[in-house]
Amino acid sequence: EKKHKVTVVGSGNWGSTISKIIAENTREHKDIFEEEVHMWVYEEDVVIPEESKHYDCSIGDKPQKLTAIINQHHENVKYLPGIALPKNLVANPSLQDAVKDSTILVFNLPHQFIGKVCEQLRGHILPYARGISCIKGVNVTDDGVSLFSEWIGDGLGIYCGALSGANIASEIAEEKWSETTIAYDPPPMDNSRNPTPRTRSPNPGAGGLEPLTELQHRDARGRTSKTKLTAVPPEYPPLDHDTFRALFHRPYFHVQMVSDVAGVSLGGALKNIVALAAGFVDGRGWGDNGKAAIMRVGLMEMVKFGKEFFSKTVRTETFTESSAGVADLITSCSGGRNFKCAKKAVQKGVSVQEIEEQDLNGQKLQGTSTAFEVNSFLKARGLEKEYPLFTAVNDILKGTKKVDDIPNLVADS
Ligand code: NAD
Ligand code: 13P
Repeated sequence: EKKHKVTVVGSGNWGSTISKIIAENTREHKDIFEEEVHMWVYEEDVVIPEESKHYDCSIGDKPQKLTAIINQHHENVKYLPGIALPKNLVANPSLQDAVKDSTILVFNLPHQFIGKVCEQLRGHILPYARGISCIKGVNVTDDGVSLFSEWIGDGLGIYCGALSGANIASEIAEEKWSETTIAYDPPPMDNSRNPTPRTRSPNPGAGGLEPLTELQHRDARGRTSKTKLTAVPPEYPPLDHDTFRALFHRPYFHVQMVSDVAGVSLGGALKNIVALAAGFVDGRGWGDNGKAAIMRVGLMEMVKFGKEFFSKTVRTETFTESSAGVADLITSCSGGRNFKCAKKAVQKGVSVQEIEEQDLNGQKLQGTSTAFEVNSFLKARGLEKEYPLFTAVNDILKGTKKVDDIPNLVADS
């Protein structure tokens, strides 16, 4: 029996936290997973901050490679300072080396970087690898809007699910209890704890593997594209809900497995726009009632967007009942980075981007670019007025509307 090798692509605030969770679990489930987990790090030179010098007083102020610091001291001093990472987690600056021989790829980086990363991965991953996208954003092109899980799957010729939830990374890194939602709806050929071993195909795919099967993707315009998939060889434990639960579930990180990949992905992406609006009104000092109104209207627009553009697959319950929906909306509008930066920007009278650069030490907001991307998609279809809150956030970020306009703009919602 072979074991699954796991790689995390990304090492920011959430990327490092998810890597910690995964490495703890591969250590506990050695029958399913190889213990060592690789985390791809976008390499940079970092000066170790004073508060992270607790383990070695000889460390000076000379910049060092972030991967070397992580591998020596088991701490991501730039993006997740103060948190001990498991020793079986290896920081790897080479994308292609990090994913070599991995059957499970976990994508966890700001959405603006995933395009380039996927280009570099093409042809370097196992044909039967499977992915989980932890990215909160949507992929908008001139043609329409698609989910990153689908776009990654399409681009790399693999199946990719999605993980999203009320998951502020710093709290989870400190092992404070939270829930998450993982959507995984794999092709039937993977989906079994079937005691009958799969037989080799008489007409095998790449490398004498299992037969290729087609997976159908559908974009926002209803157009379909087909991805040829290679089945996971039978020597591996099946890649199903049980395996993914084993990989992600911790006593402090409770996993709910579902099949609605579109709902989970859209919840994580769209709530970031709403969190900016919540920050705007909190920054004006309007109190909790105003913020609750923003969340109510925001949730309605999230559901409407899902139903309008992903009607075939999305389930309203994912928005209203799962951690990836309403719970993420609440936590993000209470303590997320998008919320905090928007609030401070209004209080200081500067742009959100300015606060992001000053305060986040290289971490990236997803709400600003998602607001622009969703707006360009809606505008191209003449639908801006149907989504007054999403449109207001775009307009406030661009300076054509004011926070004080929000109540009138969303008045009929
Ligand atoms: P982050 O905000 O900490 O972003 C910084 C990361 O981007 C670093 O790893 C940095 O090395 C990398 N980076 C910078 N320039 C790059 C480049 N040119 N190419 C590739 N990488 C580059 O990232 P994060 O918090 O790990 O967020 C990843 C995703 O997870 C986002 O979609 C975010 O919305 C989502 N998310 C974040 C949190 C959270 O609390 N941080 C929680 C849940 C989900
Ligand atoms: P921010 O990116 O706004 O911090 O949101 C984090 C998050 O997604 C919490 O679930």
